[in-house]
Amino acid sequence: MSHTSPTLPDFETWAQRWREHFEAQAQQTLPAADNPNAELALLAQAMRYAVLDGGKRVRALLVYAAGALTNAHPANLDKAALAVEYVHAYSLIHDDMPCMDNDVLRRGKPTVHVRYGEALAMLAGDALQPEAFSVLCSAEVDDAVKAALVSELSNASGVAGMCGGQAVDLLNVGRAMDLEALRCMHAMKTGALMRAAVRMGALCGTPELARAVMPRLDAYAQAMGLAFQVIDDILDVTADSATLGKTAGKDEANDKPTYVSVLGLEKARELAQECLSRARGALTSLEEEGLVEPASTLRLAQMADYVIGRNC
Ligand code: IPE
Ligand code: IPE
Ligand code: MG
Ligand code: MG
Ligand code: MG
Repeated sequence: MSHTSPTLPDFETWAQRWREHFEAQAQQTLPAADNPNAELALLAQAMRYAVLDGGKRVRALLVYAAGALTNAHPANLDKAALAVEYVHAYSLIHDDMPCMDNDVLRRGKPTVHVRYGEALAMLAGDALQPEAFSVLCSAEVDDAVKAALVSELSNASGVAGMCGGQAVDLLNVGRAMDLEALRCMHAMKTGALMRAAVRMGALCGTPELARAVMPRLDAYAQAMGLAFQVIDDILDVTADSATLGKTAGKDEANDKPTYVSVLGLEKARELAQECLSRARGALTSLEEEGLVEPASTLRLAQMADYVIGRNC
């Protein structure tokens, strides 16, 4: 699929097209479910169950939207989008396991450990990580760009990123956390991978352009990533399980530190709005400074609105 289209579709049409495109890529790229070896087939089925047919694909959409800014080749963006969504799916499999949040519902379906058992769920998550890097390494980009992509994704998923944030989350169950500690935890457990999605999309394009836009784009991505988890905390309280596709009220039940538990609903909403303004401000600066074509940040701006305004 290409970035350009004679008439500009509305956001939902644009997002839906890329989601369908992504789904087709994932269908083709994930390990085959009909492996003649029955054990390997089952592992592949668990991985496919976790990745396919569900999710808002926010991270993939961010890759595509950021890549359009730096004229990235769509085939390379597919690899980056797959890699980020594989890591995200792995993080969700493990997040739902009994030793972590102990959830039985995800994306409107039984969680992977409920469907396939704990051992296979753990292995499906484990296997999605190297598969992510393997897909990423098949991108047809210069070696330096490939190394930068691998570095972005590994840093965002490791101790300084998602895994570190998840450890802080779990080790603070039942404890009071101050705002700064909470911000750090959210930036790591959720923000880091969203930020990586934006940065990796841009990195897939022209290196000079990527370098020029990165500071502003990074400011956008950081604000977006924080807003995303703040809204996730809010929805846990305000939405129902059927709409969310996951168990509502789980944070309070698990005694988790969240923006709602620390700030209350109203202040958490205000913070999400502040993040939205910061994200949009960074995009406006990109255009005003002449770093990108006028109106080329439209999809990223719409993504920010979507993330804040979503109801699931
Ligand atoms: C849920 O992420 C986990 C968090 C990091 C808050 P998403 O809300 O993006 O989950 P899917 O991919 O749409 O299911
Ligand atoms: C999980 O945060 C973040 C991950 C790294 C998976 P949550 O535990 O709040 O995510 P949900 O609410 O279960 O989707
Ligand atoms: Mg969790
Ligand atoms: Mg959870
Ligand atoms: Mg949550």
